[in-house]
Amino acid sequence: MVYDLVRLEEKAIIEAARKRSSEVELKAFDSKDLRFDLITGAGEAREKFGSIVLQRCASYFRNVHLTGVLEGFGLDVVNNLSTALLTGNKAFTTLELAKAHVPTPRTMLAFTQEEALAALDELGYPAIIKPTIGSWGRLVASVSDVDAAKSVIEDREEMPAMYHVFYLQERVRRPPQDIRAVVVGDRTVAAIYRISTTGDWRTNTARGGKAENLPVSKELDDICIRATKPFGSGIFGVDLMESERDGLLVHEVNNTTEFKNVLARSGVDIPGLIIDYLVGRSKK
Ligand SMILES: Nc1ncnc2c1ncn2[C@@H]1O[C@H](COP(=O)(O)OP(=O)(O)O)[C@@H](O)[C@H]1O
Ligand SMILES: [Mg+2]
Repeated sequence: MVYDLVRLEEKAIIEAARKRSSEVELKAFDSKDLRFDLITGAGEAREKFGSIVLQRCASYFRNVHLTGVLEGFGLDVVNNLSTALLTGNKAFTTLELAKAHVPTPRTMLAFTQEEALAALDELGYPAIIKPTIGSWGRLVASVSDVDAAKSVIEDREEMPAMYHVFYLQERVRRPPQDIRAVVVGDRTVAAIYRISTTGDWRTNTARGGKAENLPVSKELDDICIRATKPFGSGIFGVDLMESERDGLLVHEVNNTTEFKNVLARSGVDIPGLIIDYLVGRSKK
């Protein structure tokens, strides 16, 4: 396993491996202690990291670069580079969901203020402006009208270039909650409702959203499996909303997902299932 922060998730995964120490050896590497010779480092990396690497870095850029290096050296990384790049970018994720006919909010993309405002006009207000890369609800803004949209866009134009890509989405009418489901391999193993308690319209638990267990129905499992299929086999956090008009919609597929609230509320042994998945995959 490679990591940068030791969160509850990383501790739980290490503990789950320890419980199975007769068949599993898990070595944990802090990515901040690593360096690589990109020209000659493959052999050493294969020896150091073993047959399969679980990627747990929270930093997006560190995550994709480390995954790219290890995969480039011939190692099997979970999730792999293509999965990390596609799910790490909301625009690429939306394209894959649309191609797979998975219900998702109506979304547009633009690169300038003029085109972004025209797109928002087509979507209608209120609407949501998101960065294509990011998490924890950061810089995800709801705009009620064109004046609010202009202010957000002008602010973004003062920020680094990655924020000049405008991912624009209809604001879905839904209850003050959304769903986080965890997919390991080909199964949705557990889910929670995330309920906004702070008055914030965003439901991220990182913003104070409260978690409640949600038993995984056949409908939820089906949509989550369809939503993760385009990205290959791996471990995912799927975010869904219950639209008043359209039913269940998938709005995000998360790579290197946090799952501490799902673990606490569902009681499902997600770390154990992750170890099972890695063992099964390394034997293939
Ligand atoms: N189109 C939308 N309509 C209504 N609420 C939304 C919409 N998109 C996002 N949200 C709310 O904002 C939160 C953060 O959005 P999300 O796309 O999951 O970005 P992040 O990667 O920051 O978690 C969601 O969990 C949800 O509560
Ligand atoms: Mg999210």
